Amino acid sequence: MKFDVLTLFPDMFTSYLKEGILGRAIERGLVDVALLNIRDFAKGPHRVVDDRPYGGGEGMVMKPGPIFRALESVERLKGHGKVVLFSPQGEPFTQSMAWEMAEWQQIILVCGRYEGVDERVRSTCIDMELSIGDYVLNGGELAAMVVIEAVSRLIPDVLGGERSNLEDSFENGLLEYPQYTRPRVFEGQEVPPVLLSGDHEKIRLWRKKESLKRTLTRRADLLQQSELSPEDEAILKELS
Ligand code: 6GU
Repeated sequence: MKFDVLTLFPDMFTSYLKEGILGRAIERGLVDVALLNIRDFAKGPHRVVDDRPYGGGEGMVMKPGPIFRALESVERLKGHGKVVLFSPQGEPFTQSMAWEMAEWQQIILVCGRYEGVDERVRSTCIDMELSIGDYVLNGGELAAMVVIEAVSRLIPDVLGGERSNLEDSFENGLLEYPQYTRPRVFEGQEVPPVLLSGDHEKIRLWRKKESLKRTLTRRADLLQQSELSPEDEAILKELS
């Protein structure tokens, strides 16, 4: 998987991309991230990348030229590469989008800054506009890192054999059940006895019930969209 990131702040990415599972994936050549500074594509002695909005108003708008030229400079792998713009106006990013994107060979990520980007960038160069949630960030850099990480961990071999992404929250449409490790008693709180019982069917049922309980209290909206089994439905009935 190749990611090309267009940003005014490439340094924001460098330490993040060195660490943890993602760092190892890059080291192993499973994921490649190229950072392009949009300012390198700006013209004039001052390399201006933003300007005041036509029609007046607060803030600055990113000029179309530097972004356009930066995009033209990106070498497109076969399958041409999708261009994603990050902005609070984008479609909300979800786990199912991450699975879809994990099939692409190249993703070009454009990080907006200031009050936004000139609309003509959107209409000429952008395949998809994404947001990571209903709050405002100073720019798309964190959102780009979110997408790089969420997509990379779905690429075969990025997670080691002992780790699985299939039981994660959201993969089955439900939040994850509570997890415990040693010690058995911590600050007077015991691990639920069923987890020590060795009865795998009982444990499976307990986890399913806790998963549904959590989803019901914290994210009832997810239950609407998820495909519930007859067993799930029965447990939910019992809970309500
Ligand atoms: Cl992608 N950009 C900005 N600036 N703010 C956001 C966002 C993106 N997603 C949520 N808030």
